[in-house]
Amino acid sequence: MSSGVLARSVLPALASVTGLVFYSWMRFLWPNRKQSIGAWQRLSHRSDLPADSVDGRWVTSHGVWIVRRTDQGRDRLFVLRAACTHLGCTTQWDPSLRQFICPCHGSAFSLDGERLRGPATRAMDRYAVRLTSDGFIEVRLESTVRRPQSEIEYS
Ligand code: FES
Repeated sequence: MSSGVLARSVLPALASVTGLVFYSWMRFLWPNRKQSIGAWQRLSHRSDLPADSVDGRWVTSHGVWIVRRTDQGRDRLFVLRAACTHLGCTTQWDPSLRQFICPCHGSAFSLDGERLRGPATRAMDRYAVRLTSDGFIEVRLESTVRRPQSEIEYS
């Protein structure tokens, strides 16, 4: 094989592989962020949530359930992480049982996200949530929080 043939056939392939490896490393070191860390994300308006309801419109895009609980004229709003706390499968809302059920291994959680049945060993995670002055529900997905930061009351 002459050096001219080598230069035309092997070197471009080698450059491509090297470029691909370099690109992969750069993506590894600086991955894209799906959403900016720490940002409040506007999901819905409170008027979109009927009393005592579970909103599943954000499960696919944001991995969350929005829950509005209405007890004795008092409304509580919170956002549950849809991932099961066992191994992370996406929970499903069963309206007849009023429970979140995990299809993978059968864990069950109450409407408040409390653990009812394993193998999950703890409650569903919650995210910080707030209500804007014009009634929009915003959630911060950077980390999970505990009550009371995870819940808003309003009337
Ligand atoms: Fe939910 Fe196992 S991942 S029960």
